[in-house]
Amino acid sequence: MKGIVLAGGLGTRLHPLTKVTNKHLLPIYNKPMIYYPIELMVEAGIRDILIVTGGKNAGDFLRLLGNGREFGLNHINYAYQEGEGGIAAALSLAEFFADKNPICVILGDNIVQGSISRYVENFNEQKSGARILLKEVPDPQRFGVPEIRGDQIVRIDEKPEQPASQYAVTGIYMYDADVFEIVKTLKPSKRGELEITDVNNCYINNGRMQYDILEGWWTDAGTFESLLHASNLVCQTVAKMGALG
Ligand code: G1P
Repeated sequence: MKGIVLAGGLGTRLHPLTKVTNKHLLPIYNKPMIYYPIELMVEAGIRDILIVTGGKNAGDFLRLLGNGREFGLNHINYAYQEGEGGIAAALSLAEFFADKNPICVILGDNIVQGSISRYVENFNEQKSGARILLKEVPDPQRFGVPEIRGDQIVRIDEKPEQPASQYAVTGIYMYDADVFEIVKTLKPSKRGELEITDVNNCYINNGRMQYDILEGWWTDAGTFESLLHASNLVCQTVAKMGALG
């Protein structure tokens, strides 16, 4: 499986912090945000990784990450997104890199406590289709929200006013090679973006979507509150691990 970290966007919800830098270069406790999704993938055995970014600070990713030695890698791939087209548009830039392999996609501002290796294994066993990770949250209206019937997701609503469940669709997605054909069929949403939720609904409508509930804490970090929350969660986790020796 190949890994794709999506680290573009304007980060407007974090202005003025993101006026002169990219959101994913901001600190989460003691590391730049982009470190966390990369470490998560490497820990799960994904070593062929593409970073998709854009904007004026794209070069800083190269200076920061280089060839990935700090993560135990010999090489990192980079792609540049011109303009803003949404998460699914950024993902389409990874088609050449994916080269028909299954992929794990992580939004660069998603921070998790534990490992994703068991979910990656589940997807490997599944062989085709898609798999997403859900997490119960107090404020589902901020996220993609699944309606679940039995053991199946029947629909995902993007930032619904009246959420159909207490779950958020986290920004960790696994797809087979069909994902790039699906992205090509998408139309821009009301906010003018190609939505990852539309990709997921397409897999759902075709009966090809599975899910896991993510264990341990999870947060995004794209707002002032969640950015601070993410730093606090990481800090507490680091302190706990330190106390355990
Ligand atoms: C994106 C997705 C949303 C998902 C969230 C997870 O939202 O559109 O479905 O729940 O990431 O972090 P964004 O934060 O880009 O608005």
